[in-house]
Amino acid sequence: MRKVLIFDTTLRDGEQTPGVSLNVAEKVEIARQLARLGVDVIEAGFPIASPGDFAAVQAVAREVKGPVVCGLARAVPGDIERAWEALKDAARPPRIHTFIATSPIHMRHKLNKTPEEVLAMAVEAVKLARRFTPDVEFSAEDATRSEPAFLAKVFAAVIEAGATTINVPDTVGYTTPQEMTELLNYLMKHVPGIDRVVISVHCHDDLGLAVANSMAAVAAGAGQVECTMNGLGERAGNAALEEVVMGLRTRPQFYRATTGITTELIYRTSRLVSTLTGVAVPPNKAVIGANAFAHESGIHQDGVLKARQTYEIMTPESVGLTQSRLVLGKLSGRHALRARLKELGYTLTAAEFSKAYARFLEVADRKKEVSDQDLEAIVEGDVLAVPEIYQLDYLHVASGNTTVPTATVRLTRDGAAFEEAACGDGPVDAAYRAVDRITGLSVSLLEYNIRAVTGGKDALGEVLVKVKDNGHRFAGRGTSTDVIEASVRAYLQAINKVVAARERDEAAAAQPGQAEAPPALDEGEAEIGP
Ligand code: KIV
Ligand code: ZN
Repeated sequence: MRKVLIFDTTLRDGEQTPGVSLNVAEKVEIARQLARLGVDVIEAGFPIASPGDFAAVQAVAREVKGPVVCGLARAVPGDIERAWEALKDAARPPRIHTFIATSPIHMRHKLNKTPEEVLAMAVEAVKLARRFTPDVEFSAEDATRSEPAFLAKVFAAVIEAGATTINVPDTVGYTTPQEMTELLNYLMKHVPGIDRVVISVHCHDDLGLAVANSMAAVAAGAGQVECTMNGLGERAGNAALEEVVMGLRTRPQFYRATTGITTELIYRTSRLVSTLTGVAVPPNKAVIGANAFAHESGIHQDGVLKARQTYEIMTPESVGLTQSRLVLGKLSGRHALRARLKELGYTLTAAEFSKAYARFLEVADRKKEVSDQDLEAIVEGDVLAVPEIYQLDYLHVASGNTTVPTATVRLTRDGAAFEEAACGDGPVDAAYRAVDRITGLSVSLLEYNIRAVTGGKDALGEVLVKVKDNGHRFAGRGTSTDVIEASVRAYLQAINKVVAARERDEAAAAQPGQAEAPPALDEGEAEIGP
């Protein structure tokens, strides 16, 4: 069995998902979880792109142990030097990932450079990166639409210059599994020195083939797959880590390859990424969707009851979904709740646990059974990692088909209570207006999504919102059996992030010299997003 390296780019390409923006603390939290999951490389960001990206890469490099930490850089000296500056404090030798496009379309229309110029830039970039670190990856952007002979020439030259990983990106999700196999076979035959380096693939999902193309590459001999949790990424996203990893684990005889991933942590990691990015996982998503292990038809249920493997090619436990027998309700004590949360992978501080317990009792009062999904929604939506500047104390809404929707909201901040009432287009709108009156903020609501976390009439509703303030987006999530309350909790979580960000900005402005000036891009360079 070969070991295939898992290169996670959730924090870089994943953050290029439209609408997703993670702050430094959130990126570090995700990186820590990726380290526990066992990924080999974490691409933490694109340091030249913004001061925030630089700070995130630096924080991950300094604080996260285990995987190799990597930063992206175009094939220009300024990017590479900036990437090194962000990475240099990492415990393990970090990776500089430098890239330039090699397809005729990109070279001509985007870069306005000849193939010879591109080749020279690639070589110089790799040489410069090697002066800083022994771990250098080179990506030929849009490789699958490049001339194979030119691609082979570029790869041979960068290997000669010191690249240790060469990456074959299907940047626009254009290729097919068969073409990917043929391209890798061609490169293995025509690139001198290729046997000394790791061959990597990086596939986008524009035609829904990212995972299939990545798996074809592994079968053809690739030693690294670049992927993201939940398949996040630019446009339609990247190959989903959970699908690649479980594909290899489920079909070992076929792929003859394995990974270092602790698959039992996949579900937990997926939930964390979904919570912090605000991107919900579709119910039919392979491996981690709510329906991935649900059997609906009678024939299937009958089969699964007789032998699970009739309709289950992998077990829910193998991705960290527990089949709980312990029913939690309002009579369950703190002990049972603590044990269950531990089984679900949460280690909470005493204060966090008290908060989780209080919310659990509120939910248990309204529901017969509190399921694992309810608990995850409570912990991730109401307990973890969000500053609690404003807290919901009281909510009353009046609404109906002949009434003007009205809401009264009382919030507390630093022990003081603030109450306002407002009318709106609906009860949620009225409640949000009342919150705005209290906070004095007028953010724009970009997205509002509601779903039932669990089944039944007493299901816990989960609301995800995204708001925009001062050019920045903030996600909020709230849960309750009452959807209006869940809506207000979600909005408040986002508002609390806005207030915290404004306070941070004010503190930074009060200490001039601390904030970094945005880097200037070289004239004529490509746009920042690869
Ligand atoms: O999609 C792409 O080509 C990329 C490269 C930077 C690897 O993200
Ligand atoms: Zn990409």
